[in-house]
Amino acid sequence: MKKIGVLTSGGDAPGMNAAIRAVVRSGIYYGMEVIGIHKGYNGLISGDVEVMTARSVSDILHRGGTILQTARCLEFKEQAGVLKGVESAKKMGIEGLVVIGGDGSFRGARDLSAAGLPTVGIPGTIDNDIACTDYTIGFDTALNTARDAIDKIRDTARSHERCSVVEVMGRDAGYIAAYVAMACGAEAAIVPEQPFDFERDIIEPIKEGKKRGKEQNLIIVAEGVGGSVEMAKRIEKETGIETRATILGHIQRGGSPTVTDRITASQMGVHAVQLLAKGIGNRIVARQREEIVDFDIMEGLNMKKKMGNELLDISKILSM
Ligand code: ADP
Ligand code: F6P
Repeated sequence: MKKIGVLTSGGDAPGMNAAIRAVVRSGIYYGMEVIGIHKGYNGLISGDVEVMTARSVSDILHRGGTILQTARCLEFKEQAGVLKGVESAKKMGIEGLVVIGGDGSFRGARDLSAAGLPTVGIPGTIDNDIACTDYTIGFDTALNTARDAIDKIRDTARSHERCSVVEVMGRDAGYIAAYVAMACGAEAAIVPEQPFDFERDIIEPIKEGKKRGKEQNLIIVAEGVGGSVEMAKRIEKETGIETRATILGHIQRGGSPTVTDRITASQMGVHAVQLLAKGIGNRIVARQREEIVDFDIMEGLNMKKKMGNELLDISKILSM
């Protein structure tokens, strides 16, 4: 291939810029022209693009967000939208595409590949919810942002002998909740993957902790479960412990990417370009046991990620 495109799609994630940089510079290294496509699949359809040079991606490795911007493009969920995308790529001479995003974006990548534009997906989402890869770009930065905020909440909660309910991101996935619960010493983590019983999983541990002399409590709730404000009111009513709720929200999507995110994004970006350089599309780049590998998009999308109980169980043991 002589000319490839790169776009970011769906929710942004810290480290997407590092992935864009890797795609652009390795593309140039392998003798290709690289086109940056703005605002996800919208920019592909409308031809909103720029020619990328090694200098277009200077000074972005350490920046959050995505310089190409991102979008959710409803038109792309219909075959007509995908065909417009392929047509537009052909007009611009783009022979292959790298899509950095989550599983929704990979469905678009699969459709593009099937319609004749070889496309490779790079997993970029703070949720870490893509089954074929151990890791998605942005997860570590989001965890550290949440950890930093929760440590601060803990300072004030301890001063007031309060219980804190903290809601973290993850509409369908509880990975951020489960990881920060262990990292921040929470009494409980409530995640969408597992049913929970309010009395057994929240009230009992708080009451038991009180008997053992605990002076503060931390409950982490994933966004997909929600209801953290109501939970706080109920905890206060049932335990007599003053309780506050904090919803961390989009703070978790921004910020300078961690070393893990910069390195993973760099490795995955180069791997994606190496596939396209060999004329291979319809793949998802993944990390499996520290190795960068790739899967057929459908095979990858059909895999199921199952959150084990291990993390939550360890948190429970250690929160005595
Ligand atoms: P993410 O990629 O983070 O999972 P979304 O689910 O919002 O985010 O998907 C991002 C974009 O991918 C959508 O706005 C749409 O353009 C495209 N997309 C999502 N689902 C499909 C689908 N089933 N077929 C084709 N394109 C899709
Ligand atoms: O998929 C990443 C994510 O941040 C989820 O954790 C969250 O539920 C969703 O995106 C929020 O999306 P939006 O920015 O459109 O509100």
